Amino acid sequence: MSPIRNISIYFNEIPSDYPIPGQTLITKEETIDIDTVELNGSCLLKTLALSIDPYLRLQMRETHIKSYFPAYEVGEVIYGLGIAVVVRSEREGFKAGDKVYGLLRHQEYHVAMPDSLTPLQVLPPGLPISNAAMLGVGGLAGGSGYMGYKEYAKAKKGQTIFVSTAAGAVGSVVVQLAKRDGLRVIGSAGSEEKVAYMKEIGVDVAFNYKTTDTNAVLAKEGPIDIYWENVGGATLDAALANMQVHGTIIVCGVMSSYNGVEYAHKNLSSIFAKSLHIHGFLYTDLAPKYTEEFYRDFVPLVATGAIKHNEEITRGLDKVGEAMARLQKGENTGKVVVWVADE
Ligand SMILES: NC(=O)c1ccc[n+]([C@@H]2O[C@H](COP(=O)([O-])OP(=O)(O)OC[C@H]3O[C@@H](n4cnc5c(N)ncnc54)[C@H](OP(=O)(O)O)[C@@H]3O)[C@@H](O)[C@H]2O)c1
Repeated sequence: MSPIRNISIYFNEIPSDYPIPGQTLITKEETIDIDTVELNGSCLLKTLALSIDPYLRLQMRETHIKSYFPAYEVGEVIYGLGIAVVVRSEREGFKAGDKVYGLLRHQEYHVAMPDSLTPLQVLPPGLPISNAAMLGVGGLAGGSGYMGYKEYAKAKKGQTIFVSTAAGAVGSVVVQLAKRDGLRVIGSAGSEEKVAYMKEIGVDVAFNYKTTDTNAVLAKEGPIDIYWENVGGATLDAALANMQVHGTIIVCGVMSSYNGVEYAHKNLSSIFAKSLHIHGFLYTDLAPKYTEEFYRDFVPLVATGAIKHNEEITRGLDKVGEAMARLQKGENTGKVVVWVADE
């Protein structure tokens, strides 16, 4: 076969705040001969769907700045979690036609990357949920919500939990787990549409933090036994001011700080004054302990509809830059997925 089109997304420039579509990331139309490209013991993948996650912005930094994940090099094709199908393989355990999950280059076709924090894995055939759901509620976002909650919440019926970004991919999972445990849930999000979604998934006190004062809501509805932190900044300050003595804070992420915005916290003294327990975690810390349980006990609840989820699916690899910017600006409603090709 002669070479075919191969669209690729390159990292072009380190952003100073929000990534700019067409500038931070650029799309190049290249070609690949899928019959002859050298595999060197690996496999050739056709990308089906890509997960656009907040942490991708943290990879857009100077390479000398250390973090839990390597920085993207300017001029390289970016990568992130996704689902692909194997086209050709020289790798043991992977054959043509297998559907795989792991870190993928943002290209229509590519030879699989070397395994890293998230090794490429073959997905079992006949998954009960869609590819997009596998990348959200059944993947990193849902897994982080499930695993972080199970490990650290130690929730007791009747307690109050406050979940920030409660309409988001991680937050909506935490909300639903907390409701199943009989907790009273306070949830914040940044639009009226998201407030309506929070109510739909069971949030008892749902509010728009852009139009309602978070501190006032928490002062009225608290004290908070458990705070699920997705945001940081002013929301964390308001939570600290309204925590129960000996309360628990689970730090999953601090979305408000990823795009160059700095915030001076005012209520950090609550941490010792109220003897708070603070747990930060990464999905990769907890995955070895919880992955089997997550697929056994949680994913079937998604398949039956007992756990609700919401995806924002954009079609076309060339839309990655826009999807990334929407997520970082909080314009997304639901888990952001870029659909590259049908199976
Ligand atoms: N620890 C881990 O291993 C792990 C794994 C996955 C995700 N996370 C973290 O979990 C959090 C949620 O991730 P997700 O995938 O579920 O994303 P998401 O909640 O679906 O989307 C991100 C949301 O953040 C909210 N947000 C709050 N403050 C913001 C601000 N200043 N600027 C922009 N957006 C803001 C926006 O919703 P509003 O409209 O409600 O503001 C936006 O929609 C993030 O902090 C992420 O880094 C951590």
